[in-house]
Amino acid sequence: MTPPPSPAERVLVLDFGSQVTQLIARRVREAGVYCEILPCTASDARIRAFAPAAIVLSGGPASAAAGQAPAAPAAVFAAGVPILAICYGQQTLCAQLGGSVEAAAGREFGRAFLDIADDCLLFEGVWAVGERHQVWMSHGDRVTAMPPGFRVVATSPGSPFAAIADDRRRIYGLQFHPEVAHTPGGERLIANFVHKAAGLAGGWTMAAFRERQVAAIRRQVGEEGRVLMGLSGGIDSAVAALLIHEAIGRRLACVFVDNGLMRLGEGREVASLFQGANAVFDLPLAAVDAGALFLEKLAGVTDPEAKRKIVGATFIDVFEAKAEKLGGAGFLGQGTLYPDVIESVSFHGGPTATIKSHHNVGGLPERMKMTLVEPLRELFKDEVRALGRALGLPEAMVGRHPFPGPGLAVRIPGAVTAAKVAMLQKADAIYIKELRAAGLYDAIWQAFAVLLPVLSVGVMGDGRSYEHVCALRAVASSDGMTAAAWPFEHAFLERVAGRIVGEVAGINRVVYDVTSKPPGTIEWE
Ligand code: XMP
Repeated sequence: MTPPPSPAERVLVLDFGSQVTQLIARRVREAGVYCEILPCTASDARIRAFAPAAIVLSGGPASAAAGQAPAAPAAVFAAGVPILAICYGQQTLCAQLGGSVEAAAGREFGRAFLDIADDCLLFEGVWAVGERHQVWMSHGDRVTAMPPGFRVVATSPGSPFAAIADDRRRIYGLQFHPEVAHTPGGERLIANFVHKAAGLAGGWTMAAFRERQVAAIRRQVGEEGRVLMGLSGGIDSAVAALLIHEAIGRRLACVFVDNGLMRLGEGREVASLFQGANAVFDLPLAAVDAGALFLEKLAGVTDPEAKRKIVGATFIDVFEAKAEKLGGAGFLGQGTLYPDVIESVSFHGGPTATIKSHHNVGGLPERMKMTLVEPLRELFKDEVRALGRALGLPEAMVGRHPFPGPGLAVRIPGAVTAAKVAMLQKADAIYIKELRAAGLYDAIWQAFAVLLPVLSVGVMGDGRSYEHVCALRAVASSDGMTAAAWPFEHAFLERVAGRIVGEVAGINRVVYDVTSKPPGTIEWE
């Protein structure tokens, strides 16, 4: 594991279960300072061991006025470092330091206006006394008395203590959410907190990360160690492989399993990026064309979970066989990202239901007795993109929409066949090409076509047709956890539908999916 930057430059974000805690961490990182998220249930010893230079308390769904409300561990206040407390964080801070909070005393949801009442380090260069600014609020309870040592620096119609400060201890409380885009300038308040209140210089850049990480991989793998790595065609595994390659050169062996279930031409693209006469990188890559095998294993299978498991298991079989031929390795490289390793806090109790079993190479390390090398474990997706660009990955790969591990198998409800895969690839390619031409691709989180196991009657030329229905999906989202259907103009959808029906034999009808997530999911299976 990488040693994170020196404690002097580390910020702790303590999570009370807000939906937007990860945004706080991203804003701190955008200010050039390394941070990690720990659950509010973390022990005092763990917080002391992390030794943060500053602490942010997140929002959360609980009521600080209720008996069982989660509180910040004592080590947070004992650390003597600057604290920024947001929404629920501000309420628990006040309750814990001698102020008071009242339940449902000043409900404010959504856009609110903040009146700047006094100077504050957080507002420097952002908001001036006497000004009014839009902020985002989402709270039922509110602070009704400040703890000793604090003064009010901003108010809102529903919150007389909308922003409070204890200058001596450098503790700040905000009832609103500075981390969300609906609080314009909010990211600069967070930057002021880390730079001015905590005095952190901000050396967390992707260039520094790359250097540090390459050294860390060398230390972990040693002089002789070999790393095996699966490339998926996505940016995460590509960036991880490039870093590992930079660290240990040809002691890295990459395997690309082309499962035949990727987007049109993508399998070839990935292989040619890393291998052959026109390759951009000189990575040691073994490509396995296993499309026929995957189709054979999927033949006649219609249950979505069964398909996911078959694709996952077949991948492991093919990968393992190739690894044996390559002579094995003690280490397995993976493109795990920070959101996959953050411990989540849940106040709802009970197990969370498995909606879909996500396919990654999860079972591999135990089965092959390999140690993981995960150079991206500390990064958010946007940081991986920045690093990918710095490493010279083509923009087409860096900015590509997310793609599920089981690939097109979960975009063909019902049985998967070679003919259906080919049809879907063509329809999807037309859709994506039109999105790019309309300048919409980059604004959309994810867009793709789905081939339905439904035949419909149509009329083409003078004849009757009885062919497949294709559904189009496009969503706006910031993390894939929640999503809204993209509000296309009708003319755009008609154009895409016309092209798909006209150019893809076997499809005679196109529909648009307008379901949000929840209650829908982004993929259809
Ligand atoms: P759902 O369909 O659950 O998808 O709303 C949320 C996001 O996850 C992607 N997805 C996957 N990604 N392996 C992955 O790496 C998978 O098995 C998988 N299934 C879904 C999906 O494309 C969307 O971005």
